[in-house]
Amino acid sequence: MALLELRHITRRFGDLEAVKDVTLSVEAGEFFTLLGPSGCGKTTILRMIAGFDEPDEGELFLDGQPLAGIPPEKRPVHTVFQSYALFPHLTVAGNIAFPLEMAGRTRDEIRRRVGETLALVHLEEKSAAFPHELSGGQKQRVALARGLVNKPRLLLLDEPLGALDAKLRERMQIELIALQREVGVTFVFVTHAQQEALALSHRIAVMNAGRVEQADVPEALYSSPKSRFVADFIGTINLIEADVVESNRHGLLLRAAGIGDIAAPAHPGIAAGRHGALAIRPEHLRVSPHSESAGLKNHFLGTVSEYLFRGDVTIYTIRLDNGLSLEALTTNAAPGRARFHEIGDRVRVEWRHDAGVYLAD
Ligand SMILES: Nc1ncnc2c1ncn2[C@@H]1O[C@H](COP(=O)(O)OP(=O)(O)O)[C@@H](O)[C@H]1O
Ligand SMILES: [Mg+2]
Repeated sequence: MALLELRHITRRFGDLEAVKDVTLSVEAGEFFTLLGPSGCGKTTILRMIAGFDEPDEGELFLDGQPLAGIPPEKRPVHTVFQSYALFPHLTVAGNIAFPLEMAGRTRDEIRRRVGETLALVHLEEKSAAFPHELSGGQKQRVALARGLVNKPRLLLLDEPLGALDAKLRERMQIELIALQREVGVTFVFVTHAQQEALALSHRIAVMNAGRVEQADVPEALYSSPKSRFVADFIGTINLIEADVVESNRHGLLLRAAGIGDIAAPAHPGIAAGRHGALAIRPEHLRVSPHSESAGLKNHFLGTVSEYLFRGDVTIYTIRLDNGLSLEALTTNAAPGRARFHEIGDRVRVEWRHDAGVYLAD
């Protein structure tokens, strides 16, 4: 049985359907993420799980028991917010002890549990410090510790790393993965940052305008998106508008206006005559000087219109002769100078017949 289940949850605010018919289940021990742009309903879902809000339709279950009518303080759930929500007049130890004191634990137990939890988030030496004496990352660790000290069944995290700068954010991501593995508490994590979701999660539900578009493991969302929204929201992707000319078990033959035929992976259930787009990742494209070829099935001539040198990789924008722009990512693993093509260079863009995924309209 799933630890947490949402069945056909809808939540309206006046005319706005903030959450539309969402069905999800989260397994015990999972790091589960709700990912989507701002305003798509992520916080509203967390608030219903925590009990701060109730759905208009549908039901939530924890361990198979309906949650309806159970007040927040009676749910074995804790929420960590981006704003930390620490008590400024309490020390680190005092903040972490607070939920245990509320629960009427003995002084000995409180001392022991606070000590263990401080060690878990590597803040032993900050036990007596006050929140204003801590960095952003340390404050967020205290907030996490306070969330974990009562051993909740579920820890809800609403954009907890949103206030941190990029470097620290990456450090905290690595710590969060280790922490979740160590304590084994089920996490429901909310973010609008797709890279963060991919890096942290066992499974991700991608949301758009109140609905779940696709829920799956990160690798599957990345390599087999089922809609243009998911393809575009997760990572970077090229969308090439194309009609299906032929479909059989070996593959699809597509036709794109102005550039011609494209061989694409087989897609059962897609028949000739359909319209849609081939979605293909920048790292699947090869770029060579126009007079050369890597011998891949799909190859088109174009002109380099931009490039972005990022150190480890270079990202080229190639304008094909039909006006379509494609992004191609090349790794800079070879020794010596890393950039190979200049703006204005004529180049050949190539990809394999089995690369990409066709998204029918
Ligand atoms: N209490 C509320 N009253 C009216 N509208 C709300 C309320 N809470 C959220 N909304 C609206 O519901 C939508 C989803 O909000 P939210 O769940 O906070 O999105 P997210 O967390 O994904 O950014 C937004 O359009 C927001 O303005
Ligand atoms: Mg939110």
